[in-house]
Amino acid sequence: MDLLSIDTLSDGQIAILLDAAQLFAERKGSSDRLAGRVVFNIFYENSTRTAMSFAMAAARLGAQTVTLSVEHSSVKKGETLADTALTLDAMRPDAIVMRHRDNGAPHEVARLVDCPVINAGDGTNEHPTQALLDALTLRQQFGSLAGKTIAIVGDIRHSRVARSNAKLLPRLGAAVRLAGPPRLLPDDLPGGGDIEQAIAGADAVMMLRVQRERMDDDLGDAPGEFLARYGLTEERLALAAPDAVVLHPGPMNRGVEIADSVADGPRSLIRRQVANGVAVRMAVLEMLLKASA
Ligand code: NCD
Repeated sequence: MDLLSIDTLSDGQIAILLDAAQLFAERKGSSDRLAGRVVFNIFYENSTRTAMSFAMAAARLGAQTVTLSVEHSSVKKGETLADTALTLDAMRPDAIVMRHRDNGAPHEVARLVDCPVINAGDGTNEHPTQALLDALTLRQQFGSLAGKTIAIVGDIRHSRVARSNAKLLPRLGAAVRLAGPPRLLPDDLPGGGDIEQAIAGADAVMMLRVQRERMDDDLGDAPGEFLARYGLTEERLALAAPDAVVLHPGPMNRGVEIADSVADGPRSLIRRQVANGVAVRMAVLEMLLKASA
């Protein structure tokens, strides 16, 4: 079993993963449930939270992580992704966690290797473990997502986080509103709209970073302009439900999509998301490695 997309998870598997992650989040500490297993961490794009939390999750379960330093890998010598996959497979890892700038790259690797492959973010396509940790964070806050409205705001066009959440959160009963600057709304996701309308009355506001590295030409915005026009300021957050919470997958660009006072304010669950990232990845590693045992 691989985890490449939210689409391939059944409702039952989603429930099992969230329940298991909740237990890991409560219990803390380490165990030897996956002792003797080896996880390959292959990140072709930068990562702080995702890479470290997968390594931490493996460590907490007694598994070893072997990390490929992509800067020093043979990709720089012209090796194809398929040859890289077959090379890694020949070493018989127990799982491969992979992030890549191309949509579908982990899917290609999954077709070529024997072990489970986990998509840690492919291009602008999906980031399923991020959506699971966001769902866990919201569930802890609200008890259930049923009937809740989640506004996802910012650079939707380039966001694999938005795409995975737009699939997962409605399956848990939430309504998702997508909104952002017109240039940063995608063609393939319906319902993109006005930011203030999306935030109005929402139970949670998830802000997204402007992914300038994926744009051919910069937005050309002056300092402070993005925050004033499109960012989550205290004034805009006041439009949300009285007990609304704020999420951000990180990395944050403070003063661009989110004001400091909101990021550090009492409604921010941003650090809780990071903690839950370890718990969710523990649940995912355990499910996939047990299934392939
Ligand atoms: C995001 C990603 O890489 O998709 N970060 C993350 O994994 N927590 C979002 C981003 O890069 O802005």
